[in-house]
This record gives sequence, C-alpha cells and structure tokens, in this order.
Amino acid sequence: MEYLIGIDVGTSATKTVLFDKKGNIIASASREYPLYQPHNGWAEQKPEDWRDAVIATVEEVVKKSGAGKDEVKGIGISGQMHGLVMLDEAGNVIRPSIIWCDQRTGEEVEEMLEIMPRERWIEITANPPLTGWTAAKILWVRNHEPENYERCRHILLPKDYIRYILTGVFATEVSDASGMQLLDVPNRCWSDEVLEKLNIDKSLLGKVYESCEVTGTILPDIAEKTGLSTETKVVGGAGDNAAAAVGTGVVKDGTAFTTIGTSGVVFAHSSQVTIDPKGRVHTCCAAVPGTWHVMGVTQAAGLSLKWFKDNFCQDYVEEAVRQDVDVYDLINRDIANIPAGSDKLIYLPYLMGERTPHLDPDCRGVFFGLSAIHTKAHMLRAVMEGVSYSLSDCNDILKEMGIDVDCMMACGGGGKSPVWRQMLADLYDCSVNTVRQTEGPALGVAILAGVGCGIYESVEEACDELISEAQSTGADSSVVGKYKAYHELYKALYGNLKNSYKKLAAL
Ligand code: XUL
Repeated sequence: MEYLIGIDVGTSATKTVLFDKKGNIIASASREYPLYQPHNGWAEQKPEDWRDAVIATVEEVVKKSGAGKDEVKGIGISGQMHGLVMLDEAGNVIRPSIIWCDQRTGEEVEEMLEIMPRERWIEITANPPLTGWTAAKILWVRNHEPENYERCRHILLPKDYIRYILTGVFATEVSDASGMQLLDVPNRCWSDEVLEKLNIDKSLLGKVYESCEVTGTILPDIAEKTGLSTETKVVGGAGDNAAAAVGTGVVKDGTAFTTIGTSGVVFAHSSQVTIDPKGRVHTCCAAVPGTWHVMGVTQAAGLSLKWFKDNFCQDYVEEAVRQDVDVYDLINRDIANIPAGSDKLIYLPYLMGERTPHLDPDCRGVFFGLSAIHTKAHMLRAVMEGVSYSLSDCNDILKEMGIDVDCMMACGGGGKSPVWRQMLADLYDCSVNTVRQTEGPALGVAILAGVGCGIYESVEEACDELISEAQSTGADSSVVGKYKAYHELYKALYGNLKNSYKKLAAL
C-alpha cells in the first residue's frame, strides 16, 4: 500500500493524519499545547512544543495504522502562518515564537512605511505592512532584543521549523512565505529590494519552493523515532489556509471557503494576482502552482468562543464530561433556541485587535447592548454572531473587488457547527457547503505530498478525484434582512469606538 501523511501545526494543537491514496483516513492523532500572552495583545508559543507534538503524533499514526516504513511515501506540512522562529548557528531556538495574532509591532509597521511607500509594498508583497506578519516581528526583535537578533542565523515559519526538524533542510514554500512580507508575491521569489531596504540578510531565509515540490527526506534519527523511512519525501506543504483550500477542493476560480479555527478566514482562489488597493484583505500565492488567493482574516474567531467557554462556561464543561459529549455540541444546542440577533446583543470579536477590514492592532472586544434579559446562552450566540459579522465584512470586500464566488465551502472546527454555518449562509445570503472529507489542511498537504511523489498528476486532478460535497446550508430568507440590519449596526460600532480604542491602548 502507499500512504501519505498530512501534519497541521495549528494554534491550539497539532493534528497529524495518515491517509491512503484515495484520501481515506487510516489513522489520526493530535496534541495540544499552550498559548502564552505575556502582555495585552502579545501571543507566543514554544517551537519545541510544536516539535514534540509533531514527533509524537507522527509516531502514533504510523503505529496505529500498521503502515510499513516504506509504505509512507510522502509528508506534507501545514501550519499557522506568519509566526517568527529564530534559530542560532547550532539550530537551537533563540526565543519563543511571536505568532500570527501577536499585535506588538505597531511601531515597526510605521518604520516599514517610512522605509518604503505603502504603494511599493503593495506592488512587491501584494499587501501593505501588517502588524501580524513576519517582517514586522523580525524588526521588533532587532529593535528590542538586539542580542537575540545578533545570534540569529535562520529565520523560519512554524511549519518550516518542523521541516527542519524532520529533514534538516532550511526551506519554505510560496504560500506561507507570502505572509512574511519579504516575498515578491507576483513573481514567487524573495524580494531583493525588500530585503535590502529592511537590511535583512537573505542567507537567514530558506530556499523557496512551490508547495508540491520535494524539499527533503526524513533524517535517520527521526525515522528511527517515528517508524518512517529515510526515503519518505517531505514536500513544500502550505500555510494553513492555502492547505485548507486544497483540502476542501478550493483550487479553481469561482470557489471559496470560510474557515473558523482559532482565526477565521474567507478565502477565494484566483488565477490572477488580485489586490485590494486598501489592503484590507491579503493576496498570497496559492498552493496550486502559478495561482494566487485572496483572503480576509478575523483575528479571534474560534479564539473568541474558546475564550468565553474557558472563562465563563465551567458548567458546560462539567456537563460535557458528565455526558461524555463535546462541550461545543452542548453550546450549539442551547444557542439554537436564541433568536437571530441574540435579542439585541452584539459582540465585537476584537480580542486580539482586528485585521479585515480595520487593520487595527489596538481595538478590543465589546459586548454591546447587554440587558438584564440576557443569559449566558445569549452571550454565546452573540459571540458566534459577532464572528460571523466579521467574516461577512471579509466576504463583502471580496465581492467589492469583483471576485465572483459561486461556491462557498465551510471548514475548520466552527464550520462543523450547523448553527454557525446557518449564520454564515444568512449573512452572506448564499448557500454554504461542506465536504465529506473533514480534515481540511491535513488532507490538503497530504494531496500536495501525493503530487510531489508522483501519486497524483496535479493538485486539481487529485481534488476532483478525492473531494466530494456533503451538505448544503441555504440562507433563511426570514432572517436575512434582520441580520443585514444587525451587521450595519455592528459596522457602525467600530467607527464610534475607534478613538476610544487608541486612548485605551495609550493608558
Ligand atoms: C492568516 C492567519 C491565520 C493563521 C492561523 O493570515 O494569520 O489564519 O494562519 O491559523
């Protein structure tokens, strides 16, 4: 038999799945790890936690599946984008990774705009300087921790650190590298102009591959530990969103998906480089060679619901343990009984600042309209609606850019919730569909590995063969108008609070 492994290094956990050639799940395993928030707006993780989670889960899936070591032909790695991993000469981690949702780099973004005009940044990197992206984080370390910058010999993204652990190779690929703000996105290579302007030595960066190209094979000690072979190939892989696109079959113009994981993303495939001149949505290289994608990002999507559950829903957590069910199933059950609009309660999901459409590291979360009639279930529904209003902002910008979407898929943990999918369908006023294959990014990178190993002809062909639609949720015309009115008010609230957010940040 021939098998493929997909690894997804997420923010809450790493998930590793071993598939057969038909995309069937043979074995899967996951390991959680902490997120550290040393200050308001900061977010860090330990690359060593990702490493341990990856090695343990790969070992587990190989063992569970009974796959012989020569049967695992290829591995694809997907991961949270933008995180900064710095290694010293000996390949040791220098400091915790500053991850995608960290918002400490407001001043560095200003510095980047002084170095080069916004328009030129957009021409080269397809995006304006952004606080969550890697370049600003590199400057932050250079400005605030010069001794760490001095020791740094390799700069890697989270999943590319895992590639280094598995293969010993320093490399990246176009989809994830697009989120570093150092890549010439239209030409799919490092930008010498940007590197020179920022005074970043190119030798710190790995070689850039296309997502399905083979970048290396498994190191002997890792093969020994995990039960893999030193012949197992590791392909470029993809950033988690580009990987989820492949895993949900979003690889052609007209197709798009909404994912609700820790972040929320509305992602549309594009065979052309399509840029929002206002920079509110990101344009990146896609995992399909020679194509791109546009995506809007909600910083705290699943993160908002998890935050609320962890801090205020101990009763739900205990009940879930008692009934041996998923806590989110209990939450979904209760919020289904609350009317659309949560009886005039609106949540702004800006716990970690916001990207689309505000690009504002200083805004923060709000419950607006709290009344004595509201219960915990109202607040839970309002959280899910607030995230949906934000995702709807993303979708509206894609429409405004003329990106025609005739097929919207849903994926990620939140995409599994029928109530959440209904909210999206009602707000987008279009149907939202799921696929039978639920492993999103892990399946996506396993497909890329299959292409790299010659098992599949192309990414598009593999998607046609392996991925099929499961369910379709249509908009409920009786609430579309109501949600439109709530969404309008939601949008106005940010405008009203903008200056107060700045004052709060300065306190
Ligand atoms: C995309 C983004 C997030 C992370 C974490 O720009 O920052 O979606 O990739 O999942």
